[in-house]
Amino acid sequence: MKIAILIASERKNGNCELLGRYVDRWIREKGGVSNLVYLRDSEIKQCQGCMSCVFKNAKCKIEDDLYKLAGEMINADGLILFAPTYVLTIPGKLKIFLDRFLCLYPLIKDKPERPALSIGVASPIDWNQFQLPLMNILLLALGFRVMDSYFIFGAGQGEVLLNDNIKRLEKSIEEMFVYKPAPYKSVNSKYCPIDFCDTFQYLKDDLFRCPVCLTPARFKKNGFFFDEKDLNKNRWTKEKIEEHFKEWILTTKERFRRLLPEIHRRKKEMGLI
Ligand SMILES: Cc1cc2nc3c(=O)[nH]c(=O)nc-3n(C[C@H](O)[C@H](O)[C@H](O)COP(=O)(O)O)c2cc1C
Repeated sequence: MKIAILIASERKNGNCELLGRYVDRWIREKGGVSNLVYLRDSEIKQCQGCMSCVFKNAKCKIEDDLYKLAGEMINADGLILFAPTYVLTIPGKLKIFLDRFLCLYPLIKDKPERPALSIGVASPIDWNQFQLPLMNILLLALGFRVMDSYFIFGAGQGEVLLNDNIKRLEKSIEEMFVYKPAPYKSVNSKYCPIDFCDTFQYLKDDLFRCPVCLTPARFKKNGFFFDEKDLNKNRWTKEKIEEHFKEWILTTKERFRRLLPEIHRRKKEMGLI
């Protein structure tokens, strides 16, 4: 089993790097194959929104390291992502990588679901609410199943090594080794079992939903009930993503053509041309 380890911090000898190097060595000692990848070594530019990848089925014309970097993740049998928390959420460069998802989709869509683990590295304070969901959006978009997702806290370089949660890493990776794809099961939980988001949108009565995967969640005394019927229809399933591409993204071209005369008229009226 070949596991890619992505370090999403620019900081040399920082906490993500130390944890990544530790699990890299541990996987090799266990007889596994690992590939340590530093996001800082890749140039990833911002999506320009030209939509050629979708409407013309074209390779992205931006010259950077996107396909090489994404290939390291997409062709791995498992992925471990380490990312520092910046202003409650992931660093901008990781989001820029995620934004290029549309042009990566053709490479991802036929891959089987593979296991992934996300580790948020944050200061030991309460400033991290969007970190794990954002990290997990990337993993889900790349076609992985998020098996576990948690924080290892530490601020200064190396501080993270003092955290007891570090022991949990080995168990999480052992679970990746024996991963077998299976449907989600119904569960009572304080967080969404798909993306580990613990902030919910209110719908009505005792009904909420996870904003990341849209799975309904019924409020109970000690958390939420997630029904397997709903979990297995979440927005990151292959079927739902395919539906999103075919029934929305691809149709926007025709819709835009139809709306264009009206947009043109409105621009004139508003003095924008
Ligand atoms: C620009 C910046 C913003 C940060 N914002 C947060 C934050 O909102 N919440 C938090 O818990 N830690 C925050 N931190 C602290 C880092 O997440 C923490 O130091 C982490 O260990 C860095 O990981 P690294 O050493 O792998 O880069 C921030 C650090 C920087 C440099």
